[in-house]
Amino acid sequence: MNNHINIRQKISSFNKQIKVEGDKSISIRCVLLASQAIGKSKIYNLLESEDVLHALKSIKKLGINYEKREKYYLINGFGLNGFNTNKKVEIDAGNSGTLARLLLGLLVNSRKEIKIVGDKSLSMRDFSRVTEPLKKFGANLISKKNKLPVKIIGSDYLRPIYYEENIGSAQCKSSVMLAALKTPGITKIRAKKSRNHSELLFKSIKVPIKIFNIGRYDCIEIEGQKNFGGFNYDVPGDISSSSFFLVLTLLAKNSSLLIKKVNINHTRTGILQILNKMNANIKIKNTKKYKGELVADIFVRSANNLRSFKCPKSLNSSAIDEFLIIFLIAAKAKGISTFEDLGELNKKESPRLDIGVKFLRDIGVKVVRKKDNLKIYGNPNLNLNGKFSMKNFRKDHRVFMMTCIAALTIGGNWKIFDSNSINSSFPNFLKIIKNLGAKIK
Ligand code: S3P
Repeated sequence: MNNHINIRQKISSFNKQIKVEGDKSISIRCVLLASQAIGKSKIYNLLESEDVLHALKSIKKLGINYEKREKYYLINGFGLNGFNTNKKVEIDAGNSGTLARLLLGLLVNSRKEIKIVGDKSLSMRDFSRVTEPLKKFGANLISKKNKLPVKIIGSDYLRPIYYEENIGSAQCKSSVMLAALKTPGITKIRAKKSRNHSELLFKSIKVPIKIFNIGRYDCIEIEGQKNFGGFNYDVPGDISSSSFFLVLTLLAKNSSLLIKKVNINHTRTGILQILNKMNANIKIKNTKKYKGELVADIFVRSANNLRSFKCPKSLNSSAIDEFLIIFLIAAKAKGISTFEDLGELNKKESPRLDIGVKFLRDIGVKVVRKKDNLKIYGNPNLNLNGKFSMKNFRKDHRVFMMTCIAALTIGGNWKIFDSNSINSSFPNFLKIIKNLGAKIK
């Protein structure tokens, strides 16, 4: 199967308006929470990417029906004890760490053994970060070397836990939050800051939850075993998908772009802070609050004078999925950009820190790496000629999309493999980019 693309030309100037697909984190959480509601939930603008379709298939295997209607997905839950399996079940989480880890949280009370499997990339990722806290609730989890497949058999005698989340991982925090829903009593969490979509959703569907800050930590208390009703949710656009178009526009000549209805929750907008500090001119318009989430239009123009940026560790979590594209823009900015403590990037769909550094060096950018810290020596005149290819990146969607943006803005004759990787998070990526005028074969 022909699964590569060729880019041989930079993108010409464009002045357009686009809409990116629904946020992946919120979409997966909506599907999983709707599966726990009593009654019907309607989810509008659900991201129809493979990660989310795997979430829908997973709840179906666990006895929850859903239907695709013209404008929304209708999910019919039977409450917190509503999963219904009369035999051992195997669930395929595909490429999605979020799905696999959050679903394990929901299975702490499963009466049958459930086996979670995933694709090659997901099967290389660590699961101890969720199996350890979930065992403390009383569930039984079995895995070899803390990797998938993970088998889980829940317990009828769950006990609430106190959990300290020290990585800054929203997946770990959310997995424990979902387990807390199933568990009698009050589960207490002290978590390093990370995206807070689960907290906002819990609040909006009226799960008893308290949230307060202690220093740099979020403290969360959830009272479990309280059923909630079906809900409606309109998923906003994904800032992580938008970020590829922000950088495309900044690096393109004489261009501008308006991206409509994007989620700009402050736990996700590290990219905007970083780009603005680099002298990008990004404007936020029409900001509205929706069920605790901020949603706005983002306007961006080509940049003339990008400057380097010293990225503090405090921005790592809110820009966690954007570092590949941030490295690319740092390569085109004047001066030396620095990044610290990016070890978590190597634990994603591919080892993104290693791949990002190799990519930059391959295109002639000087990078000094000390463990998980980087110095990127930017060069505003960076311009490529000659042939380049990108392959062997564990089909990581974000590596593929970053490479397309590089090819369209810095030049060169590119062959980029595994184009179907975009189906994990952003199936319309190539279509939108072609509509902006990119020549892609
Ligand atoms: C996600 C959290 C992040 C992020 C991932 C989605 C989520 O992972 O990288 O793409 O939806 O909770 P970690 O929580 O492991 O950092």
